[in-house]
Amino acid sequence: MKTEFSPKVLDELRRGAREVAARAYAPYSKFPVGAAVLCDGAVYTGANVENASFGLSMCAERNAILNAVGHGARRIDAICVYAPTTLPVTPCGACLQVIAEFGPDAPILCCTDDDPAEQRFTLTQLLPAAFRLKK
Ligand code: THU
Repeated sequence: MKTEFSPKVLDELRRGAREVAARAYAPYSKFPVGAAVLCDGAVYTGANVENASFGLSMCAERNAILNAVGHGARRIDAICVYAPTTLPVTPCGACLQVIAEFGPDAPILCCTDDDPAEQRFTLTQLLPAAFRLKK
């Protein structure tokens, strides 16, 4: 299980998450979020996309992961979430369950515009009892 990544790769993830957040569609919450996932050296990004029927809105993390999977990736090595907040945001429960599917060992980097505020979690810290079919 790989948990250490070069500073260059981590910066690429942070940059990807920040850049895609600028393309979020968040007219209702006005809360743009960007996410970037690393899969076998490639970076895939996604931003939150909301809907007038609020429950149909999709988080940045799931959009990034589904983007990666749609490109053939099946294993996430690392994930980065960006929001323009003072404290970093962590993925919601639904996104954590999707991270459990494709990247149970992936470090979860949560960043803002303030680099020292970045937080790093494991999936087990955020979702210790993820649902799994095989027990
Ligand atoms: N959101 C994300 O995209 N990711 C998170 O980790 C937290 C919340 C989105 C959903 C909604 O579009 C907006 O942020 C406010 O909840």
